[in-house]
Amino acid sequence: MTNEQSAPYGNGATPGMSNSRVRIPHLKQMKERGQKWAMLTAYDMYTAAIFEAAGIPVLLVGDSASNNVYGNETSLPVTVDELIPLVRAVSRSTRRPLVIADLPFGSYQASPEQAFHTAVRFMKEGGAHAVKLEGGIEMLPQVEKLASSGIPVMAHIGFTPQAEHQLGGYRVQGRGEDALRLIESARAFEKAGAFALLIEMVPGEVAAEITAAVSIPTVGIGAGNRCDAQVLVWQDMAGLRTGRLPRFVKQYADMHTVLLNAAQDYAAEVNSGAFPGPEHTF
Ligand code: KIV
Repeated sequence: MTNEQSAPYGNGATPGMSNSRVRIPHLKQMKERGQKWAMLTAYDMYTAAIFEAAGIPVLLVGDSASNNVYGNETSLPVTVDELIPLVRAVSRSTRRPLVIADLPFGSYQASPEQAFHTAVRFMKEGGAHAVKLEGGIEMLPQVEKLASSGIPVMAHIGFTPQAEHQLGGYRVQGRGEDALRLIESARAFEKAGAFALLIEMVPGEVAAEITAAVSIPTVGIGAGNRCDAQVLVWQDMAGLRTGRLPRFVKQYADMHTVLLNAAQDYAAEVNSGAFPGPEHTF
């Protein structure tokens, strides 16, 4: 095993952590060691660089850019052409995190070939190291095609926001007998070659069962604390977003107030003539 392969990539700023790229085998090794890790979304260079400095090993350029960057109400409208520049910004401005590009609605469901061509664009034009797609076992052919083409793919199961209209809104999935369906699909995705599973809005017990049933890492969002990793949308995690938040969100800062105060102070100083001062003037 090379030094790079045995490097202990971890969550947070692990002392002595290697600076080289996080790779798929490292995530599996962390599961084997029982070492949990944190994933965040990122859509631009400054946040990506900050999250890298914080020791976040995996960044997701989510289709949540649709409603967190582009101002749409849901994740459905965002396009491949809109997401590729964001993926490029994140992969260009970081050295260590594994960068995953989310395949947006309509860019992979039609066929394994469509999924392949979309994923190739994200890797060639965006510099992504892996892709993510949503769905149930109907997506197995897509996962098989990508994995057998050398494209690492994360399967997103449970609540899948791209299907929100079919699912009747944001609803917990996998309750009661439906749990078995989720566990079976998780096993099938592992067999098809997925390198990880993202589990969204599933009862904690069910997510724990899935995590025990597969040897690939599980990343939870609204799926309890017994997944191998957790993910949050960064604007939720840092409190940039306000208003009603999903129950699974914890806010670790109040970026909304920080930015609001800064913008108000700036405007007040411009209005009063206090800015720019002599020290800002040539
Ligand atoms: O697009 C996204 O941000 C996601 C979340 C579940 C993390 O898929």
